[in-house]
Amino acid sequence: MSRLVVISNRLPLGDNPSGGLVVALDDALRSSGGLWIGFSGETVAQPSDTLTFHDGAPFQRASFDLADADHDAYYLGFSNSVLWPLCHGRADLTDIVPDHANGYRRVNARIARLMVEHLRPDDRIWVHDYQLFPLAAELRALGVRNPIGHFLHIPFPGPADCAAMPNPHELFEWLSQYDLLGFQAQRDLSNFTESARQLAEIEHLDGNRIRLCGRMLRRDVFPIGIDTASFIAEARNAQEEDRMRTLTGAQMMIGVDRLDYSKGIPQRFRAFQLLLENHPELHERIAFLQIAPPTREAVEAYRDIREETEHLAGRINGQFATVNWTPIRFIHRPIPRHVLAGLYRQARIGLVTPLADGMNLVAKEYVAAQDVSDPGVLILSRFAGAAETMGEALIVNPHDPWEMSEAMARAMCMTANERRQRHSILLRGVVEQDVSWWSAGYLDALAMTQ
Ligand code: ADP
Ligand code: F6P
Repeated sequence: MSRLVVISNRLPLGDNPSGGLVVALDDALRSSGGLWIGFSGETVAQPSDTLTFHDGAPFQRASFDLADADHDAYYLGFSNSVLWPLCHGRADLTDIVPDHANGYRRVNARIARLMVEHLRPDDRIWVHDYQLFPLAAELRALGVRNPIGHFLHIPFPGPADCAAMPNPHELFEWLSQYDLLGFQAQRDLSNFTESARQLAEIEHLDGNRIRLCGRMLRRDVFPIGIDTASFIAEARNAQEEDRMRTLTGAQMMIGVDRLDYSKGIPQRFRAFQLLLENHPELHERIAFLQIAPPTREAVEAYRDIREETEHLAGRINGQFATVNWTPIRFIHRPIPRHVLAGLYRQARIGLVTPLADGMNLVAKEYVAAQDVSDPGVLILSRFAGAAETMGEALIVNPHDPWEMSEAMARAMCMTANERRQRHSILLRGVVEQDVSWWSAGYLDALAMTQ
């Protein structure tokens, strides 16, 4: 079997990965071996012109540094102040700066140059996410003929958001240099197809084959999963459960998200406030734990969301707390995975209500962590990719606080029988479509492109 070379912006060198991409790739590479290349997380005055290798079982890692100005332009600028908001339907939050687009192209070209000398002729190359859209074009320009696939972890924008990019045609030219484009959900495949039809040249051949900007490639949907077996084991072993139960004495509702404006955290706080206003019988019976580690704080929109969230939590606690009960606890830092698993298991409600999300792995982790004899209820946004395959959750519109608060009330009084029925169907999906199923399906499809 040829070597798998994975490349993503983020390369976790520490122990506690957070973010769907690193969690999934870490799980995938543990089973297949190979090489994972990514950004070290360090900005330096003079970046090295070679990759730094970090050996260690069961797969190899190689990192690159970035100059401050490149990090600002490529990561904070074009990736997270143009592409991220557009992919999440927030054109109003974009900050388009021509220098950032140049920096984005420059960094992708540099990564291609750093990679190329380490590639073997039979390597399969798997590129991840929006930070690296131009990478295949840069590798092709250096003569790389290997199969190169791309997987997009976040939503693909529809025509209106694509059209708000500085040079929309360029996006499709970049994408045309891959052999396989993978998306999280049917929604993304449809957006891609419609956007390409309106803004570039696309022709449908047979099956999943298309001609995009003159080049033949394949595209398909590969919904990402989690390492379900290990998460189930982690949750069973978690000792945190009993400790938390003694701490609160109320049923717990849990939310776990990076503090990102796409996650809909203020909207869910407002829905919780409405629940407490309309259901006084639930006072002291429900406690909401929101875990939201900081992310991309150098981007203004992320600083704003932190202020808004803390302010709302304070207001709701001020309005409803009693000496025995704090309605919302807000934890603004990463939590070890085994502790997270135990918290999910203890929570009667898992609240996953993004305004837009590629898949959302928290939804799957919550289901995997439940005690099958007394499982909790997943409340899931219709705008998470996960909603396409997790229809047994309580599906809600995250913009509608009334609907969300009524879903919370319904979850609180749902019978054990209904909870078990819903959960067993959800769990079957999360077990069958786990991270190995996802990566095997993607890599089989990549092999078919040759
Ligand atoms: P995204 O990729 O946008 O961050 P996902 O929901 O797909 O969203 O993935 C988030 C991943 O990060 C999950 O595996 C989740 O467990 C992990 N995570 C989120 N918040 C924390 C936290 N506070 N501590 C540790 N892990 C976290
Ligand atoms: O899953 C989407 C994603 O943007 C990944 O590319 C990324 O690793 C994760 O969210 C966390 O974001 P960041 O790497 O910018 O902290």
